[in-house]
Amino acid sequence: MKDITTLLSLAALLVVAGASAIPPPHYEVHEKRETLHPRWTKRDRVESHKLFPMRIGLTQTNLNMGYEHLMDVSNPTSPNFGKHWTSDEVIAAFRPSRETEDAVRTWLIENGIPSTRITHSDNKGWFAFYATAADAERLLRTEFHEYEDAETGGVIPGCDAYHLPQHVRRHIDYVSPGIKLLAPVESRRSLQREVVRDEESGLEKRNAHGLLQTQAEANCTGSAPDDLSTCDVAITPACVAALYQIPPATTTTTKHANNSMGIFESELQFYYQKDLNSFFTNFTRNIKNGTHPVPANIDGGMQKVDDPYEAGGEVNLDLMLAYPIVYPQTITLYNVDDFIVQANQNDTYTFGFNTFLDALDGSYCSFSAYNETGNDPYLDQAYPDPLIGGWTGQLMCGTFKPTNVISLSYGGQESDLPISYQKRQCLEYMKLGLQGVSFLFASGDSGVSNYPSSAGGIDGPTGCLGPNLNIFNPTWPGTCPYVTSVGATKVYPGFTVNDPESAVYDPAGFPYSVNYSSGGGFSNIYPIPSYQAAAVGVYFESHDPGYPFYSALSNDTGDIKLLPDVGALAGGSGGIYNRIGRGIPDVSANGDNIAVYGGGNFSLSGGTSASTPIFSAVINRINEERLIAGKGPIGFLNPSLYANPGMLNDIVNGSNPGCNTIGFSAVPGWDPVTGLGTPNFPKMLEYYMGLP
Ligand SMILES: *[C@@H]1O[C@H](CO)[C@@H](O)[C@H](O)[C@H]1NC(C)=O
Ligand SMILES: *[C@@H]1O[C@H](CO)[C@@H](O)[C@H](O)[C@H]1NC(C)=O
Ligand SMILES: *[C@@H]1O[C@H](CO)[C@@H](O)[C@H](O)[C@H]1NC(C)=O
Ligand SMILES: *[C@@H]1O[C@H](CO)[C@@H](O)[C@H](O)[C@H]1NC(C)=O
Ligand SMILES: *[C@@H]1O[C@H](CO)[C@@H](O)[C@H](O)[C@H]1NC(C)=O
Ligand SMILES: *[C@@H]1O[C@H](CO)[C@@H](O)[C@H](O)[C@H]1NC(C)=O
Ligand SMILES: *[C@@H]1O[C@H](CO)[C@@H](O)[C@H](O)[C@H]1NC(C)=O
Ligand SMILES: *[C@@H]1O[C@H](CO)[C@@H](O)[C@H](O)[C@H]1NC(C)=O
Ligand SMILES: *[C@@H]1O[C@H](CO)[C@@H](O)[C@H](O)[C@H]1NC(C)=O
Ligand SMILES: *[C@@H]1O[C@H](CO)[C@@H](O)[C@H](O)[C@H]1NC(C)=O
Repeated sequence: MKDITTLLSLAALLVVAGASAIPPPHYEVHEKRETLHPRWTKRDRVESHKLFPMRIGLTQTNLNMGYEHLMDVSNPTSPNFGKHWTSDEVIAAFRPSRETEDAVRTWLIENGIPSTRITHSDNKGWFAFYATAADAERLLRTEFHEYEDAETGGVIPGCDAYHLPQHVRRHIDYVSPGIKLLAPVESRRSLQREVVRDEESGLEKRNAHGLLQTQAEANCTGSAPDDLSTCDVAITPACVAALYQIPPATTTTTKHANNSMGIFESELQFYYQKDLNSFFTNFTRNIKNGTHPVPANIDGGMQKVDDPYEAGGEVNLDLMLAYPIVYPQTITLYNVDDFIVQANQNDTYTFGFNTFLDALDGSYCSFSAYNETGNDPYLDQAYPDPLIGGWTGQLMCGTFKPTNVISLSYGGQESDLPISYQKRQCLEYMKLGLQGVSFLFASGDSGVSNYPSSAGGIDGPTGCLGPNLNIFNPTWPGTCPYVTSVGATKVYPGFTVNDPESAVYDPAGFPYSVNYSSGGGFSNIYPIPSYQAAAVGVYFESHDPGYPFYSALSNDTGDIKLLPDVGALAGGSGGIYNRIGRGIPDVSANGDNIAVYGGGNFSLSGGTSASTPIFSAVINRINEERLIAGKGPIGFLNPSLYANPGMLNDIVNGSNPGCNTIGFSAVPGWDPVTGLGTPNFPKMLEYYMGLP
């Protein structure tokens, strides 16, 4: 711990003549604030001896090499396929150049900041030191004033503009404190629209389905676990295994030490052991009574409850789909954030995943990109949490090793979060992908639209965007090109597991998702990545959906916490979807009428929430075979999936309605409804075992 008093006296000695606000000619304005939000009032000049922590964010130009680096280890034709990096290698590859570090350090030392006072962050992204106001003013050729926040009464130092010498400007991203006053809470709050968990309570759906459920229960719990005659009514583990030709795991199957399957939970999703027991007993032959996940509690997360009325529908669904595929392999359950935070329905930060990623990769805690350093003070929860009952520990940074596969049945909308926030996090999926981790996200349950906003947000009551509320609204983080987005299929009444599945459509999905259908569409932030360019090209060429479209991407505007303005992107074109954005989903799996136990009762559940753990578990099982054969995990999946679509069952029927349209249609080849299709386990296994 650094001793502030020592620093103070040291710093006091360094105060030279009063700083001049008029910069010498070789200095240039680096950042300048155009307007001051009325919430802030500029007060007195900061007294020259006052000490504050300064950070110099160094430019990391090589971040744009991330895509190529990731392709190098995940493109099946690359000689480096599967040669994943260590976290130190990732830090080294993306650290600012020596030239940048030297130039900035030299400039600081020349301006009276001794090198002994400068700390270099673990991820090498920035320099930090304490400076007096006089030091800071001299360094930046500016004046620091106190800015008072009308809402909280807080006072922070800031300036209207600051200058840097020409030769160091290109090495510095931004300086803090500087022009950035934390964005006003009002504008942040408006971001915090209701983002409904991508999950359904079994109870709700049970009520919606009534009689059918009772019959289905009688029918499928009364028969042997491997009965396949009612898969059009209720999807059991046997139905999933038959659909995707997943062979039963035998009791002699080994359980590799480094292949536990990861599942993310938050939002009060705590499992109820009796439900797992009932499920294992009634629907599987091999899973031992009492089987439960390996706990990984992050920042006050917890695992299970003893009260059936508190049983979590999402966590039960995830575990009941994944266990039958991966068992006897274990499941690691990452439960993220303290109870207070999880219980706050208004808070989108739980959909931000930043506290989760911090716990998996310590260097992310202080990673700077797109003018965001570390977690966002408004969107992400800070720890220790001062609220009573909150997590009193420090924010976890690098506490847990990431599992090879992580299934996340959660998501929000691209339109909900600042572009810079999303892009910074997307880079982290790239970095973890380089280290061999596969992230699979649910594509959403509202087809081409998204969760309707009860708070009347920009996507309003329809879940669609733009002034006319008719523009399609893609789900985040599935649109990040470094993750795998999973859509949903269904076995319609009268069909069997031997018939092709269709894209899911279930109007009775209400209330968890009005008119449930597989989330799909095109990003407004990320361009079409090269790995899917051919597949998306064929889709437009051979199966043009016929809707008017626009071709534009929301640009990152740096400091401003800007949401993607999709209405502006479409302009006056009348277009309702983006023709040049990354397409989702990448793949799909069954996601309706899933047999589960919840709170002691049988029920049917579903959502792309179900599809995601199925597909993730299939990948985990393939990784298991690869590890046993002495190979590494697959890591980032998309390049190999798109390179070999024949190992997936192409889905060619159905569509994903939304925004007063029938949505996109499932067609031969990739489509923005079911992606490349559902798993064909034997073909996928053969393909991946053939790769190095
Ligand atoms: C349950 O099984 C009975 C007898 O096979 C059948 O008539 C009925 O349609 C089934 N109910 C459902 C909901 O599948
Ligand atoms: C698991 O990974 C660790 C390193 O993280 C390694 O030391 C160990 O040998 C691995 N175990 C197996 C069975 O491969
Ligand atoms: C399901 O399993 C539980 C035991 O865990 C048992 O009590 C219950 O009767 C079973 N239900 C059916 C319908 O078989
Ligand atoms: C499962 O284990 C619990 C105790 O953990 C026990 O009460 C229950 O009877 C067991 N169920 C079966 C079907 O063995
Ligand atoms: C959530 O937002 C709604 C509507 O703005 C408000 O009525 C409610 O009190 C908020 N709940 C919490 C826990 O902040
Ligand atoms: C669900 O979709 C149907 C058919 O497209 C439509 O008539 C109905 O209004 C939709 N319901 C809601 C609540 O959006
Ligand atoms: C985004 O930036 C590109 C080039 O940097 C520009 O051509 C395009 O018009 C910008 N788009 C928007 C919506 O501002
Ligand atoms: C950071 O914000 C400034 C404007 O405040 C902008 O000029 C700069 O490009 C931004 N940097 C990044 C990496 O977005
Ligand atoms: C389970 O079903 C019973 C009988 O319908 C009902 O009384 C009970 O409330 C249900 N439990 C939960 C947790 O919903
Ligand atoms: C095609 O999908 C629709 C739902 O969109 C479904 O009702 C129908 O049964 C499916 N037909 C076939 C042949 O799978």
